This record gives sequence, C-alpha cells and structure tokens, in this order.
Amino acid sequence: MKLHRKLAKLARRETYRRGWRRAQRSVFRLPLGPVLAGLDQNRLAEIQKRYAGEKYADVDQWLRVNRERVQDLKLHRSPPQRVLDLGCGGGFFLFILKRFGHSVLGLDLDESSLFKELLEVFRVPRTVFRIQPFESLPNLHQQFDWITAFSIGFDRYRATNSRWGPGEWDFLLRDLQRRLAPGGKIYLTLNPLPNGDYLTSELRDFFSKRGADIERERIFFTNGVHKQLARSTSGDA
Ligand SMILES: C[S@@+](CC[C@H](N)C(=O)[O-])C[C@H]1O[C@@H](n2cnc3c(N)ncnc32)[C@H](O)[C@@H]1O
Repeated sequence: MKLHRKLAKLARRETYRRGWRRAQRSVFRLPLGPVLAGLDQNRLAEIQKRYAGEKYADVDQWLRVNRERVQDLKLHRSPPQRVLDLGCGGGFFLFILKRFGHSVLGLDLDESSLFKELLEVFRVPRTVFRIQPFESLPNLHQQFDWITAFSIGFDRYRATNSRWGPGEWDFLLRDLQRRLAPGGKIYLTLNPLPNGDYLTSELRDFFSKRGADIERERIFFTNGVHKQLARSTSGDA
C-alpha cells in the first residue's frame, strides 16, 4: 500500500477511535460530584491558592483530564483492580480510581511539594523512587492488574534531552511484566518528541512486536507484554 494511503487509513482509524471514546464517555458518565464528596475542600482551595500558576495547581482541570483517562480505560465500571501508576504526579488518576473501590499505588520522585500536598489531600499512597534505565523498580510487595504511566517523563536523558530506545524499554517492560497478575494490562502515554511525533519508527516497531496496541501517544498492552514477535507488523492487514 502506498505511504499516503497508509497514512490516510491510519488517520481515519484514529478519528474513528477518538469519536468512539467520546461517545462511550457520554453514555457511561462519571460525575465528579460523588468523587469529590468528603474531600477536604478547604485544604484543597488553600493549596490551589498557594501554588496558583503552577501547571498542576488547577485541580478541576486535571480531575477532568483524569476522569477521561478512567472512563477510556473503563475503570469506573470494572470490579476492583490493583493499579500501579508510574510517575503518578499529584495522584489525580489514582484518587478517582480509589473512589471506585480500586486499590492504588503511585510511584514518583519526591521533587514537587505541590504533588506531595495533593497526594496527602487525596490520600493516595506513593512510593518514592527514581526510575532509571536498566535498573529494576523496588520491591512493591504485590502484583498488579494494571500498570499505568501517563505523560511519561522518566524516559529521558536530561543531559542530551534524548529518549529511551528499545533497550531501555525492553528492560522496564520485562520488569513490569514480572509484577503483573495473570491477564494484567500495561497502559502508557508518551510525551511528544521535539518533531511532534510520539515514537521513532524503531520504538513503534519494538512496542508493536511486544504486542502493544499503539494509537498516537497511547501504548496499550491489553494482555501483558509478549516476549517475541507476536504478529506481522507490515501494516497492510
Ligand atoms: C508530565 S508529569 C505527569 C504526571 C502524571 N502522570 C499526569 O499525567 O498527570 C511526569 C511525572 O513523571 C515523574 N517523573 C519524571 N522522571 C521520573 C523518574 N525518573 N522516575 C519517576 N518519576 C519520574 C515526574 O515527577 C512527574 O510526576
């Protein structure tokens, strides 16, 4: 298939999927009122005031963003799951999940006092840890049904602003796989590269061979990570 036809097909598929997600969200709603019930609103307002202007201080906005994440993964209508969120930030995603009876654990650096305070208000537990290339995560003393990571920031070499390649990702995915319960899922969303793409072709090929469903920044392993080539990646099928 010619390249421009392949790209057009891909764009149509993405538009369709986006539309489908939007439709599903409007059918299976997730009102924030009950989610926020019982939250210390005074403390939250005070934190927002003190950190005004910081990217993650607009709690309403980030709760809405994370509500969509929860809806798109159908976690507001699934039985209780054990969820580990890497680079959990202020814990918005896990806070919403906790309200639906899921058991949650965040993992992140301890570099942001805003995140620390938000996690406290949300009562979201966090393990402090720096994810580094070719280093295992700490012992988290449990298996998980889901491992997520949104707007990933740990895949960068700060000095050169370059990103992890297949070697680093292979190491992390093998590590994550060992922590997944049978049938567990891994869902990652990447930040854009300087050229606006989310993946190099090398990395796209790698994730695809490991069994990921890839859509723009979304990398979804719906049934764990495959060890080897699982399906053709010629793209014409
Ligand atoms: C762009 S923020 C996204 C936060 C959150 N996942 C969200 O989508 O709202 C990236 C997060 O990754 C964390 N992070 C960056 N490098 C990390 C590393 N090496 N190990 C663990 N966490 C890291 C940051 O502290 C921050 O919370």
